[in-house]
Amino acid sequence: MSSETIIATFAEKFGTTPRLFFSPGRINLIGEHIDYNDGFVMPAAIDKGIWLAVAPNATDTVNFYSVDLKEAYSTPLSIIAPVPGWQNYLLGVIDQVQKRELTIHGFDVAFGGNLPIGAGMSSSAAIEGGLLFALNEIFDLHLLRPTMATMAQKAEHTFPGVKVGIMDMFASLMGKRDQVILLDCVTLDYKYLPLQLNDYSLVLINTKVHHSLASGEYNVRRQQCQEGFAILQQKLPNVKSFRDIKPEDVEKHKDALTGVIYNRCLFVTQEIERTQKAATLLESNQVEEFGKLMFQTHEGLSKLYEVSCPELDFLVNKAKEHPSIIGSRVMGGGFGGCTLNLIHKNDWARVVSSITDEYKKEFNIDAEVYEVAPSDGTYEAAQA
Ligand code: GLA
Repeated sequence: MSSETIIATFAEKFGTTPRLFFSPGRINLIGEHIDYNDGFVMPAAIDKGIWLAVAPNATDTVNFYSVDLKEAYSTPLSIIAPVPGWQNYLLGVIDQVQKRELTIHGFDVAFGGNLPIGAGMSSSAAIEGGLLFALNEIFDLHLLRPTMATMAQKAEHTFPGVKVGIMDMFASLMGKRDQVILLDCVTLDYKYLPLQLNDYSLVLINTKVHHSLASGEYNVRRQQCQEGFAILQQKLPNVKSFRDIKPEDVEKHKDALTGVIYNRCLFVTQEIERTQKAATLLESNQVEEFGKLMFQTHEGLSKLYEVSCPELDFLVNKAKEHPSIIGSRVMGGGFGGCTLNLIHKNDWARVVSSITDEYKKEFNIDAEVYEVAPSDGTYEAAQA
């Protein structure tokens, strides 16, 4: 779906001239399921995302049009309440704006893009952050990007009801070309690290499956971690967050934790350590060592955190058979979506097609493949 299509659809539906905004999806190099567990993450915005054409309409009504779904929705600004469906991502954002008592008026928005839904590349955060960014520009709300990220996160908690961490919105709004963001999810301090991958490319392979209950399972993981942390904190009174707990501490207190809770806590503490190590490796350009950590993350996400699925495990196991793939893992929330792979540039087209052929034989699904690179965060686009 191109920006021209979005603009043309807007003109057809609403008959005025909109401003055009681009809100990207994200990748995450490492640090999975630890943004809501006080860890560090290493995401980047990508050049796939959602276009939003937006214009004020001089009424007190908001009109949405999803170009991908060909569905419309309208509501007065005085009645913003959750409704099941895609509308919730936009309504939740308006609700956050209203909770802060910021003044907006009626507007029209048409949106759509080239970010596959349910592929773990954060289409929901792109819609939420993108609408907020557009409202900030149009109605002069004076919000800074990190504040918009926390508001978009709140919007997702309260309307769609998924208790996501801050990573996706932050990456989408704060991304920078050729850089990854090392984000401290406790303080929201961040720094940009230049992404130098030597001879390697970042390639996503989309399983094209998205197992249902994913959002419910996400909230369950979050709750299990909170439960585990509360138990560990009783044993280790000086710790303030998971960041202060080492995997050895979790092992030591195994008897106090039930099997599943133990596994979750072990993964979280390992992944926090791994991400810090990964940042050091990336800064010193040790790409092969970095790739090994990606495989370890997958193992943990699959066996301990249990957010993988047979399709993702198949792709990662196949990746291990190719020496030119130095790292591979499930990316994002899991239960389907993409694997992120570090593959030698000279060989990636060949190995990826061999893996996707085998995937087709096994699951009868045509996996999709995208080469990705860190790109700029949300922006207003010039119109031709
Ligand atoms: C989803 C959530 C993020 C993060 C990832 C897993 O994408 O939206 O906040 O927790 O899963 O790392």
